[in-house]
Amino acid sequence: MHVNVVFNPTASSKDYTVFIDELQTLCFDTKVMIVTNTTVAALHLETLKARLHVKTLHTVILPDGEQYKNFESLHCILNACFEHRLDRKSLLIAFGGGVIGDMTGFAASIYQRGIDFIQIPTTLLAQVDASVGGKTGINNDYGKNLIGTFWQPRAVYCESAFLKTLPHREFAAGVAEIVKMAVTFDRDFFAWLETHDLHVDQNLAEAIRKSIAIKARVVAQDETEQGVRAVLNYGHTFAHVIENQTAYSVYLHGEAVAIGMVMANTLAKSLDLLSQEDALRIQTLLRRYDLPTHYDVPSSEAFYEAFFLDKKSANDTIKFILPQGIGNYAMRNDIPKETVLRALKGDHV
Ligand code: NAD
Ligand code: GLY
Repeated sequence: MHVNVVFNPTASSKDYTVFIDELQTLCFDTKVMIVTNTTVAALHLETLKARLHVKTLHTVILPDGEQYKNFESLHCILNACFEHRLDRKSLLIAFGGGVIGDMTGFAASIYQRGIDFIQIPTTLLAQVDASVGGKTGINNDYGKNLIGTFWQPRAVYCESAFLKTLPHREFAAGVAEIVKMAVTFDRDFFAWLETHDLHVDQNLAEAIRKSIAIKARVVAQDETEQGVRAVLNYGHTFAHVIENQTAYSVYLHGEAVAIGMVMANTLAKSLDLLSQEDALRIQTLLRRYDLPTHYDVPSSEAFYEAFFLDKKSANDTIKFILPQGIGNYAMRNDIPKETVLRALKGDHV
């Protein structure tokens, strides 16, 4: 199976293919450097190496964790590029979750003004979301992903076999992003998710394909997030505040997104965009994968103010991405503060 990411009606040099369960052997007549972390290297690096036929192969193994998505790790990747004398024809391979993917893409985009990279994502979240679309970056003291570039990979290889070793919570975090795509863009896909267990291999592969197809369509239309790409942030405006208030130590990102979607749904209901029945369907689906759906907002005022720390809040307005029924969305930056505060205080679902 595969999905094409096509940026233009006419062929664009940025176009690429996302291959699903099609990674047999990759041959490159260039220097190649794999970037991965300690966890993924221990579990899967040998499997990957056995499938690579390249001129010269190098590997950089970084420590594992979002806290290492920083300048130091970027420096480490770039230094390795220099030490191994990678040239402008060389290739980086991002082999890991979204953290590795975002950092490797960033390094590829700036090394010698930009070299090719491919994504081989090993988490569900990275397969259905982070590896496609070319957002790259690192975190700094001011927040997450505030430094980065748009740099598209040459290809993406999603192998469901790598997901077999994912911890249960990490798997569920990826499911949250799948649900996000379905709620905002595809009612039939949502109904399909309600009746298909993603722990069944065949269903998982199909859900990955459907999610990537949605993401590919969206990013091809709006690579740099001037419009529709922002819809992929459904649940994220709330999630970022929750992650921040809990010092990034309680919830995985996908878990915070699950709660954030339920909170966004409460706001959508109060604006008559979403029915109670549809809100319940979304919550039920998330809970089926043991995702959290509730957060005790300590202070609605403080939560509201924290929205403005998000890099997506422009000109003192907050852009809310809300479901309009299931399978459609509304982008609203005109919601009165009082309405939002009421929704934050209200019962979610
Ligand atoms: P992650 O990269 O931290 O991976 C989660 C954990 O799973 C890590 O401990 C990792 O080592 C481990 N892991 C990876 N593959 C494994 C495997 N096959 N088996 C067992 N363990 C494995 O987190 P993530 O959820 O993949 O990605 C989150 C990151 O992605 C965040 O930094 C976020 O900002 C970024 N992101 C980027 C985009 C984008 O469009 N670029 C979109 C969404 C998220
Ligand atoms: N994950 C959101 C985006 O790629 O735009």
